[in-house]
Amino acid sequence: MTEKIINGFEISQKKRKQIKEKVELLKAEGVIPGLAVILVGNNPASRSYVTGKGKASQEAGIHFELIEFPETIDEQKLLQEIERLNHDENIHGILVQLPLPKHINEESVIESISPEKDVDGFHPISIGRMMTGQDTFLPCTPHGMIELLKEKKIELNGKHVVVIGRSNIVGKPAGQLFLKENATVTYCHSKTKNMKEITKLADILVVAIGRPKFVTSDYVKEGAVVIDVGVNRLETGKLCGDVDFDDVLKVASYITPVPKGVGPMTITMLLENTVLSAEWVRSSLSRTM
Ligand code: GUN
Repeated sequence: MTEKIINGFEISQKKRKQIKEKVELLKAEGVIPGLAVILVGNNPASRSYVTGKGKASQEAGIHFELIEFPETIDEQKLLQEIERLNHDENIHGILVQLPLPKHINEESVIESISPEKDVDGFHPISIGRMMTGQDTFLPCTPHGMIELLKEKKIELNGKHVVVIGRSNIVGKPAGQLFLKENATVTYCHSKTKNMKEITKLADILVVAIGRPKFVTSDYVKEGAVVIDVGVNRLETGKLCGDVDFDDVLKVASYITPVPKGVGPMTITMLLENTVLSAEWVRSSLSRTM
């Protein structure tokens, strides 16, 4: 059974080692990749994600700045800080942790980040570039899933991928990235009728719906690959995904666990994007010299 479990933690560790080597090469050329993360308010889940991003950056040798604002900050002040970071030569990546307080317009904030530093890949320019197959920062969670599947040498070409969930952060871009890999993509969401009939057609089932243990074995075709993006905290304090892991493990050929599945890969892809941004800066500098 354990060979069915895609160990995102182990794969992440391997990739982070490669990222660290790239950081060392950049440093030898005088470029220190820098990541700035803005955290507004005191949401415990957001704080925990941001702490994880900081720790992983520092382990990879990436310069990390955490900028914290109280819940009550006004939008203008936040936009001014982003503008300052857009011009800060020590910073190659800017990430504003979401969600933001209700009085702040998330779209304006995302659009104020320079696309050249948009390591989350959430800016409409980054999304447009992704959809048209241009070089850009890919959104970290969907990119992390594709990398996990490639690492396990799971064929994507011609496969039917069903994505449950249509968020801007995960579901929608995941479908686009699978399409780029020549998969046939179907989206399901909260208004989908006969969802089980559709998900049972999936060779690869991506679940990003935010409901604990929503997908049970009767949603899954025998031998399908199941990617669980959910992170839910149960009353016991334990984390669980959107997939009923023990039940689905019986029918899936591969499955990602929660924790230690997709989660660590999201952070790894963020580090990769930050290094990519620093490399782009380095190559544009060497072109002008
Ligand atoms: N909140 C939950 N996931 C993410 C993410 O990937 N990026 C940002 N900025 N906020 C998030």
